[in-house]
Amino acid sequence: MKSRMAIAILSVMACSATTLVAQGPGADTYKAKCAMCHAADGSGNTPAGKATKTPSFSSPEMLKMSTAQLVAATKEGKGKMPAYSDKLTGAQITAVVAYIQTLQKK
Ligand code: HEC
Repeated sequence: MKSRMAIAILSVMACSATTLVAQGPGADTYKAKCAMCHAADGSGNTPAGKATKTPSFSSPEMLKMSTAQLVAATKEGKGKMPAYSDKLTGAQITAVVAYIQTLQKK
């Protein structure tokens, strides 16, 4: 019985963590800094996204990337994608990557 309670509590916690990510600082940073190319839904389907050939976060290559790789790519930039290591704090990058992962459709 005790373990069932623990599972119930854990799943409530997991749900609220997802909601936090979906509405928290990562979402704000994404909308302010990334959505013009990557699109609100992460598809890359915006005029700037098309002009820079921004890939979808749900592309097979992106789905294969680990959290650490996504963080490194955001810090260092790649091709037409700007580097954010001097524009965002480490915490903001961690939050924005967590938000990107909520947009990925596996
Ligand atoms: C000016 C348009 C633009 C903006 C703004 C932008 N990106 Fe990108 N992003 C790109 C393009 C283009 C690529 C593909 C780069 C390539 O593969 O050459 C990319 C790729 C990525 C990748 C995958 C890199 C890889 O190694 O394949 C991540 C992660 C990413 N962007 C995160 C972000 C985040 C987070 C932000 C906001 C803080 C952001 N991007 C803002 C254009 C943009």
